[in-house]
Amino acid sequence: MRVLVTGVKGQLGFDVCRELSKRGIENQGIDINDCDLCDEAATERVFGEYKPDVIVHCAAYTAVDKAESEPEKCAAVNVGATLNVARAAKQNNAKMVYISTDYVFSGEGEEPFETDAEKAPMSVYGKTKSEGEDAVTETCDKYFIIRTSWVFGINGGNFVNTMLRLGSEKESISVVCDQIGSPTYTYDLSKLICDMIVTEKYGIYHGTNEGFCSWFEFASAIMEAADLPCKVEKVLTSEYKSAAKRPLNSRLSKKKLDDALFSRLPKWQDALERYLKEKQKMQ
Ligand SMILES: NC(=O)c1ccc[n+]([C@@H]2O[C@H](COP(=O)([O-])OP(=O)(O)OC[C@H]3O[C@@H](n4cnc5c(N)ncnc54)[C@H](OP(=O)(O)O)[C@@H]3O)[C@@H](O)[C@H]2O)c1
Repeated sequence: MRVLVTGVKGQLGFDVCRELSKRGIENQGIDINDCDLCDEAATERVFGEYKPDVIVHCAAYTAVDKAESEPEKCAAVNVGATLNVARAAKQNNAKMVYISTDYVFSGEGEEPFETDAEKAPMSVYGKTKSEGEDAVTETCDKYFIIRTSWVFGINGGNFVNTMLRLGSEKESISVVCDQIGSPTYTYDLSKLICDMIVTEKYGIYHGTNEGFCSWFEFASAIMEAADLPCKVEKVLTSEYKSAAKRPLNSRLSKKKLDDALFSRLPKWQDALERYLKEKQKMQ
């Protein structure tokens, strides 16, 4: 089996390639320097040359706030490039994995969203990721769409790293306490992706670490685990200015994983502990 992974210089793509190699699965990671996926001809050529059996599409425009002021650029990557990759998957008769997000939902209510819940994105980023999903479902037959949330991984900037930096610089910080979701470690998500691609259990899934918390609780856990004296204070979303509107409820139901007999990811607290250990090892 040959797997082509996009976005290898990002958080998830990096870990997917590592996990594939660990399992002895032939893989190639590419990023924008190898191929701008917005270029349809280049995408067709690069994918045609590699002849993948599976494509794991992790590349994306992920700057949620910036997207509000450059919606065309965001759509070009999250919709246009995704369509190019989906077409390349179809041409090569390859399975396609598309990584999506909790931002495709409205964020209303307090119940976890099921995979077939109505989509109602509230930001440019969420809307383009939702349209990216549609490009995949309309183009491919053999696809896995995995919606994840609050991603952190060793290869890139993320909330944990920001908290570690602020925690060593400041005496106190304010963090929103009314947005609830699941932090997700790319190392754990990569294992789920590798479990899925060897099956034909196609469809839409939610893949996050287990358990729900607020950003405030997540930040507090980071400070505690890293033994940083910085005080974390609660702030409401309504009091915190950001360009993009963010969902209050990012809870995702993992029932579909259970139904398909895929293993759920470990708890987010456990994932955080392992992530911090991995970071320490790399210093
Ligand atoms: N991060 C999160 O909290 C989060 C939450 C839910 C879902 N997701 C989804 O999970 C997936 C992985 O996220 P991540 O955090 O690993 O992303 P990331 O670290 O931002 O990595 C994305 C990679 O895609 C590359 N890329 C952007 N435009 C490209 C193009 N036109 N052609 C080729 N490559 C391009 C980026 O290169 P440059 O850096 O040079 O632009 C970057 O290396 C994405 O689909 C994202 O939407 C992420």
